[in-house]
Order: sequence, then structure tokens, then C-alpha cells
Amino acid sequence: MKERESVSPSLREIVESYDAAAPLAEAWTIPAPWYTDPRVFELERRTVFARSWQLAARADQVGEPGRYVTCEIAGEPVVVVRGSDKTLRGFFNVCRHHAAAVVTEEEGEARVLRCPYHGWTYTLEGELKGTPDFAGVCGFDRAASGLVPVECAEWENWVFVKTGRGGPTLEEFLSNELIEQTRPLDFKNLRWMERRHYSFECNWKVFVDNYLDGGYHVPYLHKGLDSVLDYSNYTIENGERFCLQSSPVVSKGAEAETGAVRGGERALYYWVYPNFMVNWYEGVLDTNLVLPRGVERTEVIFDFYFADVSESARPRNLASIDVGQRIQDEDVSICKSVQRGLSSRAYRAGRLSVRREAGEHLFHRLLYTSLLAGL
Ligand code: FES
Ligand SMILES: [Fe+2]
Repeated sequence: MKERESVSPSLREIVESYDAAAPLAEAWTIPAPWYTDPRVFELERRTVFARSWQLAARADQVGEPGRYVTCEIAGEPVVVVRGSDKTLRGFFNVCRHHAAAVVTEEEGEARVLRCPYHGWTYTLEGELKGTPDFAGVCGFDRAASGLVPVECAEWENWVFVKTGRGGPTLEEFLSNELIEQTRPLDFKNLRWMERRHYSFECNWKVFVDNYLDGGYHVPYLHKGLDSVLDYSNYTIENGERFCLQSSPVVSKGAEAETGAVRGGERALYYWVYPNFMVNWYEGVLDTNLVLPRGVERTEVIFDFYFADVSESARPRNLASIDVGQRIQDEDVSICKSVQRGLSSRAYRAGRLSVRREAGEHLFHRLLYTSLLAGL
């Protein structure tokens, strides 16, 4: 393979150096600079993250009027709040006075939203209500100075927002295929138990690639997990913007700790473009939200749900979370190693396994479409 050219290419050249038209058997991965160049990172923020539906909260966090959750999406501060009228709304969490974050807690409950800077207050519906010491300001349009809304919608146990304008509704974005396919899994009957944060020293796409390799790395990196999956019958099915990887679960020869908490007939791993995963085993669910924190830094938020969250089920649930934790720990060092390799002069792009890596191929093609639209 040729060494990388020393003249620095333009952002367009970097994006267009990927061939999205190649079928899987002829395809290459996205080029290494996509994982290392700050310009790509910026472009992703404006396109991939601003134009897609992003997980903002769990529905259980905002069940009652006044309950809110704050987060940052595509670099934008966002707040999701259940109104007095029980409607869920999303807003840019930016005060119309001098731009401070109006809501500062990660989650909570309030009757009005009060900016901590100069005390302006907004209703739970986002209207500007109180403006201390603001008499005599000419032409001030109070009615037009409410919090700026963002699109907000729910699917199953999750609240999504889209900070950019236009584009598909959440339903269209997820597709009927995904909504119908997952309905029988009855996600709503699972209860949230715990959230954990993991950090990875890699670009966010390295984590997603690792997830979408069709189990390719499982026998080598995750011996415990491998012992409960029927690797040769692992399937990979692509939807328009999602991928379902699935494996029969086996109990014969299962490693004790993993086998004790991974039952049922099949494991289902749903990935939704670009950065949300839903992993389901019978009675056990976890979701992963992959958040770019820097070109080479990624935070992944795991939420763990169980059919039974009673006190008596707690030890088993914690054991299940620990198994998940071990898998993440096993992935941390490989992700770091890949990130380092992606910066090497020796690497530009790699080929994809036809048997295993169709999900990654879909991910790369969707990214290409998103990035190209933002150039
Ligand atoms: S910035 Fe919010 S009240 Fe001044
Ligand atoms: Fe892994």
C-alpha cells in the first residue's frame, strides 16, 4: 500500500475519497482521516448529528409534568420537559436574554424554568414569563422571546430530538420496519435500573464500527460472550437506517458468569444510525448512546433495563450489568489500538468481510451521504 500523501487534502477530497457506490464485496472502509481530522469532526456535528434524531432522555425520566432532562446534542444545549398539559417538548437550553443555560441540572422537576443568571423565567411550555428589572425596554417582544423549540418525539422507552430543521419525522427516520419488528419485544415492559458511563480513547466511529462487525471480533476478544453465542449462525440484516445483528443463544458450554445472566433463544442487537444501540436478551435490555467528546475521545452511556427490578432480582441484575461491563472493558483497549493505527502512515483504509461486516458498510455509506450533503 502507498504511504499517505504529504500535501494536506481538502475536506471535500477527504470525504469524496470514499467510494459509497461499491458493493460490499468491493468496498473499502471509510478512509482513516475521517477518524482523525478535526474538520470531519466539525462537519459531522453539523450534518450527522444535527440532522438525525438523537436520544435526549429516557421516557421514565420525563413521565410527569415538570420533569426535565438536559443534554448536549450536536454541540447544542438542549432541554426536554414535560409541560403542565402533559405534552413533551424540547427546547434549546439557551436563555433569550444573554444566552446562559436556563436549566442547569442534568434532570429534575420544576414548576417554572428559571435562568440562574438574571432570573428570567419561562413556563414549562417555553413561554417567557418573568423578566426582572426590564421595564422601559423599547420594542421588546415578550411573546417572541420564548425558548426556541427543537423537534421532539418518543419511541418506546426513549425521547429523541432533532436540532436541525427539516428532514424526516422520527417515525420516518426509524422506519416502519424497525418499529414493527421491535414492537413484540415489549420494551415498555422492561424497567430501567442503572446508567453507566464508559470512556474510550478513540473516535466515536471506531466504537460503532466495532459494534457493527457482525460478531467478527467476539471469538477473539470476548471469550465469555462467545461462549453463549452461536457464532456461525450469527445473522446481519440491514434496514434503511438501522442494522439488526442477531445470534442464537446457547447454554451448552457457556462460561458460568455469562451463561447465568444471558438466557432466551436469541440475542438481538439493533443499531440505529448514527449512534444508538438497543441490545436485547430475554428479560434483559441495554442501550448504548455513543457521544463524540473529541476527535479521539468518546463517551458511551449505557442504560440497563430488566423485566424484573425487584429487590430479590437485584443481585442477578447486577451480575448481568457486570457481564456487560466486562465486555466494554475488553473493547476499550482494542478501540484505542485501532485509533492509533488509523493515524499511522501505513494505513489508509481496509476491506470488509462480506459474511460479517455488512452493518459497517451501511454505516459508512450513510455517513458519506450525510457528510456530502453538508459540504
Ligand atoms: S442570561 Fe438568562 S436571565 Fe440573563
Ligand atoms: Fe466488543
